[in-house]
Amino acid sequence: MTNGYELLVEPTPTECAETAAGLIIEALAGSSTPVLGVATGLTPLPTYAELTARSFDVSHLQLVLLDEYIGLPADSEASFRAAVRRLLAEPLGLPPERVHAPPHEGAPTPETCAQFEAHLGALGGIDLQLLGIGRNGHIGFNEPGSALDSRTRVVELTAETIEDNAAPFAAARFVPRRACTQGIATILGARQLLLLATGRHKAEILRTALLGPVTPDVPASAIRLHPRAVVIADRAAAHLLRTGDDDVRARGR
Ligand code: F6R
Repeated sequence: MTNGYELLVEPTPTECAETAAGLIIEALAGSSTPVLGVATGLTPLPTYAELTARSFDVSHLQLVLLDEYIGLPADSEASFRAAVRRLLAEPLGLPPERVHAPPHEGAPTPETCAQFEAHLGALGGIDLQLLGIGRNGHIGFNEPGSALDSRTRVVELTAETIEDNAAPFAAARFVPRRACTQGIATILGARQLLLLATGRHKAEILRTALLGPVTPDVPASAIRLHPRAVVIADRAAAHLLRTGDDDVRARGR
């Protein structure tokens, strides 16, 4: 099945965050083993601020990262683990052992990647996976060309992604060239997907991902293969979507 997603268009990133936080809390409340899959980057920041300002049951909550750089020192503040710890785990009062990441120390192997996938299963699976979308259509660090049946693995980052992720580093040349990411099939294994896109710079790729073919060339298009995918976009990111189309169902404000 394709085009099985719901699109919610909100006026600004603030309203996107409010809607996203509500959906996340609802998804976690329905689970006896609540596991939230988290993305890093700029887009989810207002959602994390909103989540940490709300009151909900985190007593069993586990967080799982989509991806992590390989080769950063364990105490690097630029790692995705550090970001999730700062933005979400600590404000929610979660201990470090409830934050899980794909293998990133030394040289992850197919075996350690498979162990991570087994660990996800042991946690009970991901209830809701939050996703951003890269300018080239990546989700997690699944760059264009990633197979739709890909699983957790080591990837080489594209020059564009390195450039886009340079902010926490002194310069783009300090951004690691390799990362370990959940694969597209791993992401599709979550019980629910929530893709967030805000800003005009995401409009073109959002249109391609939602209205073009489902293809490894645009990894985010794969969310349309999932039976429960929600896309929340602000008006700027959604402005190229003709929301009256059969392909796109919008619930604006
Ligand atoms: C990071 C990740 C990436 C980002 C994407 C968008 O964990 O999964 O796929 O979601 O690069 O980044 P921003 O939100 O900074 O535009």
